[in-house]
Amino acid sequence: MHDNRPAFIRFNERNEKFAEQYNQEYYERQHAKGKLTARERIDILFDKDSFEELDAFVRPRGGENLPGAYGDGLICGHGRINGRKVFAYAQDFNFMGGSLGSAHAAKIVKVQDMARKMGHPIIGLIDSGGARIQEGIASLAGYAGIFLRNIQSSGIIPQISVILGPAAGGAVYSPALTDFIFMIRHTAQMFVTGPNVVKEVLNEDISAEQLGGADVHSTKSGVTQFVYDDEEHTLLGVRKLLQYLPSNNIELAPLGNEPVVEPDKPERLRLIIPDESFRPYDMLDIISNIIDQDSLFEVAELFASNIITAFARLNNRVIGIVANQPKVLAGTLDANSSVKAARFVRFCDAFNIPLLVLEDVPGFLPGSEQEHIGLIRHGAKLLYAFGEASVPKITVIVRKAYGGAYIVMNSKNMGGDFNFAWPTAEVAVMGPESAVKILHRRTLEASENPDQLKQQLITEYREQVANPYIADELGYIDEVIDPATTRKKLITAFDLLRNKYMEKMPRKHGNVPL
Ligand code: HXC
Repeated sequence: MHDNRPAFIRFNERNEKFAEQYNQEYYERQHAKGKLTARERIDILFDKDSFEELDAFVRPRGGENLPGAYGDGLICGHGRINGRKVFAYAQDFNFMGGSLGSAHAAKIVKVQDMARKMGHPIIGLIDSGGARIQEGIASLAGYAGIFLRNIQSSGIIPQISVILGPAAGGAVYSPALTDFIFMIRHTAQMFVTGPNVVKEVLNEDISAEQLGGADVHSTKSGVTQFVYDDEEHTLLGVRKLLQYLPSNNIELAPLGNEPVVEPDKPERLRLIIPDESFRPYDMLDIISNIIDQDSLFEVAELFASNIITAFARLNNRVIGIVANQPKVLAGTLDANSSVKAARFVRFCDAFNIPLLVLEDVPGFLPGSEQEHIGLIRHGAKLLYAFGEASVPKITVIVRKAYGGAYIVMNSKNMGGDFNFAWPTAEVAVMGPESAVKILHRRTLEASENPDQLKQQLITEYREQVANPYIADELGYIDEVIDPATTRKKLITAFDLLRNKYMEKMPRKHGNVPL
């Protein structure tokens, strides 16, 4: 209801003008492109009627009288998601293609600063033609201010980017500096240089989708961790992710608000590992028989699938899972899987999320391709990440744990807090086949029946070396456990670790091998 006292006349007039901006045409223009408007996106993202807009009347410098100028192509503010406070900004493609001018940038910087100061996550909904050409250097400076805040907030509050339209040029680097990127198929594209430049410089014909669409970035480049087919599911995915994250680095992730449903048949865990050690199986079968039912939320599911990174709940508490996937590349560690896992481990460590490692790794992936793209450099990232992480860290070796890959996957001497193994575990410097070839080369060459001898030596090696018992007896494994008791053991161990405290040596920062 309007208050007609003099002081309110101008207030009411402004509000009316502002409301007129969001007329039918505003919605139709964006819908004609097959996209939702920034306002509709905010409505889906936030709990009903919880969003409060800030800086709604800011207008572009020099373009104050342009139609639709209120807000300068950006809606920003705060509200609640699953009842918890979150800041967000949404670029509005309807005004100058959501391009980033100086006022638009100042609005983003303002909510970034507020989110960090108050300790709440921030989400950016990106749909923009990039730097506003008319504002020149001022818009580049605007981007720099945003990037700087991304860096300053890193490890303090979760930062999430959602790409719902174009993101080109240097504009991709704000998302790249955040913790997680969501993309929608077909409408969202991210690239540093667009198809036209690619054609000019390299004479290569490539569409925007092929160059930087959601499928490319979720499977090949690893730039995006979550991809969906439509805007609603993308935004609901963001809401879901937030249920696993604390609001900042001094809080714990929230407890689940559903009653805990335990896996119904833990004894099944005794049957999942095949009798023949070379046979693959699905590590997700093991995971689902350990964690609270339906609590798995995979991160970067489609990229480097030889390693699984996922959030889940164990007895209602959030954990981060890093697990080798024997179904893909035999679960070996390669450059991409090392980087994927390292980044996940560092996120969990920064945000107090305990880590569970489920290990079945035959080693690093051999070959010139891997060596030449820097497997040494990339593998070192995972080593560094696990060694540096001070959150509770538990490993369960379910089958193979060979060589350097054994060490990397949170082994006891790398700081594992509890290291369990199943009776099916094979812990050794290398697999039986390779070990026998090296140790018995001369004997095999001299043998009249080398194949039979090799098989016999492999069986002996398996019995004597490739099992969990030597490691157990030397204390490198804390306990060899019945697979059916894994969940119970983990709940007890993580409970003990709730008091874990590790003092860090003072230093500016380590030199993580980037
Ligand atoms: C000003 C822009 C703009 C920009 C689009 N518009 N991009 N205005 N600065 N960067 C305007 C258009 O003029 C148009 O205005 C409206 O937004 C919608 O654009 P369309 O082209 O009609 O839309 P569409 O066909 O969907 O194409 C979208 C697009 C295309 C792919 C984003 O507009 C485009 O290629 N824009 C330029 C992208 C770009 O090169 N940006 C600079 C990147 S370099 P009207 O008035 O007609 O509605 C960069 C540096 C960042 O960002 C550095 C950070 C360190």
